[in-house]
Amino acid sequence: MMVSADQQGGTSSYGSLNGSMQAFLAEVRKDLEQGMLSPRVLNDPDIHRAELDRIFTRCWVFVGHISEISDPGDYVLRYIGEDQFILVRDESGEIQLLMNNCVHRASPVCRAEKGNTSHFRCPYHGWIYKNSGEWNGAPFRAKAYPKIDTARWGLRKAPHVDSYQGLIFACLDPQAMPLREYLGDMCWYLDVLFGLNEQGMRVAGDPHRWIVPANWKSGAENFVGDAYHVQSAHRSLEDIGLLPDAGGASTGNFHVTLEGGHGLIVSRGFLPEPHYGIMDYPSEVTSTFDLTRFDADQREFLESRYTVVGFTIFPNLSLIHAATPPEPGLPPVSFTCLRQWQPRGSEEFELWNWPLVWNAAPPEFNHASYDASVLGFSPSGVFEQDDTVVWRGGPMVGRSAFARKDMKLNFEMGLDGMSDYEPRLDWIGPGEASTSAFGEKNQRRWWQRWCDALASS
Ligand code: FES
Ligand SMILES: [Fe+2]
Repeated sequence: MMVSADQQGGTSSYGSLNGSMQAFLAEVRKDLEQGMLSPRVLNDPDIHRAELDRIFTRCWVFVGHISEISDPGDYVLRYIGEDQFILVRDESGEIQLLMNNCVHRASPVCRAEKGNTSHFRCPYHGWIYKNSGEWNGAPFRAKAYPKIDTARWGLRKAPHVDSYQGLIFACLDPQAMPLREYLGDMCWYLDVLFGLNEQGMRVAGDPHRWIVPANWKSGAENFVGDAYHVQSAHRSLEDIGLLPDAGGASTGNFHVTLEGGHGLIVSRGFLPEPHYGIMDYPSEVTSTFDLTRFDADQREFLESRYTVVGFTIFPNLSLIHAATPPEPGLPPVSFTCLRQWQPRGSEEFELWNWPLVWNAAPPEFNHASYDASVLGFSPSGVFEQDDTVVWRGGPMVGRSAFARKDMKLNFEMGLDGMSDYEPRLDWIGPGEASTSAFGEKNQRRWWQRWCDALASS
């Protein structure tokens, strides 16, 4: 598959797809309607390049949590696709996303992962930028640059940065739709997850980061709808007492499918009342929640003990919200992690994981919640190891000479009455809910959105 000259930086801002890529995407769409997918999508370097050019430059992409940059001058290094940026709160309190490359000779201007500064000084020749990105000076300026157009030579900035419920997103496309429109009905679910009280959530330290030998889309697709794998991939956790019922985790969930490739896995809370309640939190945490913040449907969702187990916001932000013991033998504790699937070439991704805790919760609960999340979902997480091992298969099959030509992966579950998977007609929230998670509708919709994003002009 060849990348066109346009795609390498030619006539249009995002490049145009060549004929073979367009034909391949048409084949992928047709296959998805029939419940199939070519494994080439999980390793092809040209597809990877097109994703960077056409998905990560045009979608709203998560770049951090508001609590990571609470004071003027706070900054962290972040990625959109494979481009590195500085997420910073400038001196006026505005959030900026600045490309971490000097406009003189492209040297990275910031080499610390996080910190607080009013200016960034490039290590190469010493150009200085304000934390708002503006050019601010250079060594021997009077001799070297007496006439420089300072307004022109600031750091490159993302044209759009916005946040919702503490989650900061950026979009590199000047023509982007507003963030709330992009998130659509996902806002309703972000409200019930993160808006349970005015104090909100914060990150519990820096994000964990590690390399996984698989394609980034395997993670995004798993968290948008794959509850089915729990009974198999995570079966051993039942054996060691960390998961009470691996089969139940597969059967007790259902899907909510949203527009835009976003989707959720939803369940009913299972920790016993009266000590546990909303979202499986214990009473010392639920007592801090304020349900008057919600509309009637959201209150019914919460009071009926529905809980969001996982989601994916297209393209690469996911969430896990579950309750497992902080160590074997202890009772389960509810935890929440944001996780991002950062592409690093076509056959590896970097997994970023942010455990979150409630600002108003007792510190003992937050510690236990953090420990439970780390035991399950982190570089050493027992769930994590199960998942990342099985995702290795995508690139293996994608590069296989035998499989590459015509092998198709099965995405049939839930198609045409194949499984116990019907519309949930009385669903109280937005989106299309299903009666079970024995379907792959969310996954197919995610891949269709992926096709749309790659193919759109
Ligand atoms: S590359 Fe930054 S000052 Fe020259
Ligand atoms: Fe899993």
